[in-house]
Amino acid sequence: MSAIRPTRKRNVATICAQKGSDPIICLTAYNAMMAQLLDPHVDILLVGDSLGTVLHGYETTIPVTVDDMVYHGRSVMRAEPKALVVVDIPFGSYEASPEQAYKTASRILKETGADAVKLEGDVTQASTIEFLVKRGVPVMAHIGLRPQAVRATGGYRIVGKTDEECDSLKEDARAVQEAGAFAVVLEGVVEALGAEITRQLNIPTIGIGASLQCDGQILVTEDMLGFFEKTPKFVRKFADLRSDISKAVENYANAVRDHNFPAEIETYSADKKAIPLPLKKAQP
Ligand code: KIV
Repeated sequence: MSAIRPTRKRNVATICAQKGSDPIICLTAYNAMMAQLLDPHVDILLVGDSLGTVLHGYETTIPVTVDDMVYHGRSVMRAEPKALVVVDIPFGSYEASPEQAYKTASRILKETGADAVKLEGDVTQASTIEFLVKRGVPVMAHIGLRPQAVRATGGYRIVGKTDEECDSLKEDARAVQEAGAFAVVLEGVVEALGAEITRQLNIPTIGIGASLQCDGQILVTEDMLGFFEKTPKFVRKFADLRSDISKAVENYANAVRDHNFPAEIETYSADKKAIPLPLKKAQP
C-alpha cells in the first residue's frame, strides 16, 4: 500500500484515537537529518536513549545523560516534524522521586520543544507518572524488557514466560494506564501476553519484540536500516546500509587513490560566478 500520510501535526489525542484502527507507526530519530527523512512516513518519532548504544558506542543506555537527550531532542525538533516527538528520560534522572522526574521532564520539554516524554517503569513508577501527567507532562510508559534495568534484571530477558511474570506485567500495564500514561511501549514480551495486554488496555500499546496485535510498532531506525550485523530476533532489516556504506566508501577510497576524483565536472574554474547562499531563518 502507498504511504500517503496526513500532513497535520500529530498530538496525544490523535495518537490515542488510532487505537484499534490505524496502526501507529513509530521509529527512533536522533537528529534533524533522520527526522526529516522519516517524518513523512511515521506517527511518532522517539528520541530514544538507545542513542547511547547506537551512536555513542556505550554498552548500555545507562550512561546517557539529560544533556545528551536535550541535545538530540533539539536536533530532531529542528526538522519541524509533523510526527509526535517523544523524548526518553534517561536512567538516574527520574527514579528518586516524582519531583526529580518533574524537574527532568519539564527541562526536556522546555529545552527541546518535544511533545512528550517516555520513561521506563513498572508499577513502582505509577505515582511518578500520575504526578507528571497532573502537571501537564504527557507520558509514554515503557514496560516489559527495560534496557535501563539490565544491571538489575541480569540482562536483556524476554518477559512473560511464567505465570508470575504474566500477572506482574499485566499489573504494570494497568497501573501505568490508571496513572495517566497516554500510551505504553511493550518491549521483549511473549506474543500472547502482548496481545492480551493490548486487548485489556484503553490506551495504545506500541510493540517492539512484542506482538502483531499491538496498536503500533517501533524499531530502532539504524537496526531496521541494517547498520548492524548483530540484531535481536525481533528486528527485520528493511535495508542493508552497512554494506552499502562500506561499498560506497571503498569506491571513494579507490577513486582518490587512482586520481579519479575529483573529475573536471566536480571542480571550479575561475570564470564561474559566486552562487549566493540561501538565507536560513535563525534556529534555537
Ligand atoms: O531507546 C529506545 O530507542 C527505545 C525504543 C527502542 C522503544 O526505548
